[in-house]
Amino acid sequence: MLNKKIHNKTELRDQINLILNDRSLKNPLTESQIIISHSANKSNYLDVKFEDIDFQMIEYIVSQRITGKPLSKIIKQKGFWKDIFYTDENTLDPRSDSEILIESIIQDFNSLKNSKFEFIDLCCGTGCLGISLLKEFKSSTCDFIDISRQALSNCKKNIYDLAVDNRSNLYESDLFENYPISKIKNIKLIICNPPYIPTSLYYALNQETLHDPRISLDGGVKGLDFYIKIVNSIETMPFKGDIYFEIDPTIVDELEKFLLEKSIKIVYKKQDYLNLDRLLKITFP
Ligand SMILES: C[S@@+](CC[C@H](N)C(=O)[O-])C[C@H]1O[C@@H](n2cnc3c(N)ncnc32)[C@H](O)[C@@H]1O
Repeated sequence: MLNKKIHNKTELRDQINLILNDRSLKNPLTESQIIISHSANKSNYLDVKFEDIDFQMIEYIVSQRITGKPLSKIIKQKGFWKDIFYTDENTLDPRSDSEILIESIIQDFNSLKNSKFEFIDLCCGTGCLGISLLKEFKSSTCDFIDISRQALSNCKKNIYDLAVDNRSNLYESDLFENYPISKIKNIKLIICNPPYIPTSLYYALNQETLHDPRISLDGGVKGLDFYIKIVNSIETMPFKGDIYFEIDPTIVDELEKFLLEKSIKIVYKKQDYLNLDRLLKITFP
C-alpha cells in the first residue's frame, strides 16, 4: 500500500495522509502523525526517528483504518486531557467533548488543589475522567464504578499505567448497588458520563461510534434512564455534594424538566468546544 521509496518521516506522513484523505476520513494529517508515533513507540511525532519506524505495523494500521475502524480501536489508545488512555472494544473511547467537565471541576475546586478529598467517577469506562482529576488534585482519592467487568479491567490498567493506583478503588456495580453507601457522606463530588443516546437514535449513530460498546451508549427510550436512576437513588442517601453530569443537546430539555419537577438545583450548564450543551452541574446541599 505504501510506496517503497520513502526517504524520510515527512514523506511517509504525507503518503499516509493522502491515503486517509482519499477515503474521506476525518483529521488525516493528525492521524498520520499518531500512526507514525505509535509504530515507533513514541508518544510524540516530533520525537520519532525515521529508523525507529515499523513499516509493517504502519501497513497493518492503515489497512484497518481504511475499513472505517476508528484509529483508537486499532492502536488501542486515545489521548484525553494530558494523558494517553488504553481503550478497546469494551470501552467508550475518551472524547475531547468531555474535557469541559475536567476544566470546570479544576476551576470550582481550585481552593482544594492540595487538600485531601474523595470523589466518585460513576460509569467510569476507561477511567479517563477520574484519572485526569486524580492527576490534577494530587491528594484526592477516587472510587471508580462501572457495571462492566471488562471496562473496569481497562480502567485498572490505566490506573496502574498512570500511577494513581494508590489513590483509587474500583467497584463492579450497577450504579450504587454494590457501592458501600456509608462512604457517600464523605464524597465531595461525583463526575458522571452515563450512557445517554436515546435507543431510537442508537442505530443512526455514525459507523465509527458503533465500534464503542452499546452498554456505554444506550440511555433508554428518551436517553434519560441513567440520570433518573442516579438522581432518584442519590436523593435517598446522605450525599451533600455536587454532581457533574455529561449531557447532550438531544436530552437536555427533558432532563432539565425532570430536575425542575424534583426541585433539584441546577448550578450551571456549560457548552463544549463546539458550543453544544455538554455539562450540567447539580447540587445536593
Ligand atoms: C458513556 S460511557 C462513559 C465512560 C467514561 N466515563 C468516559 O467518559 O469516557 C458509560 C459507561 O457506563 C457504564 N455503565 C452502563 N450501565 C451501567 C450501570 N448500570 N452501572 C454502572 N455503569 C454502567 C458502561 O459500561 C460505560 O463504561
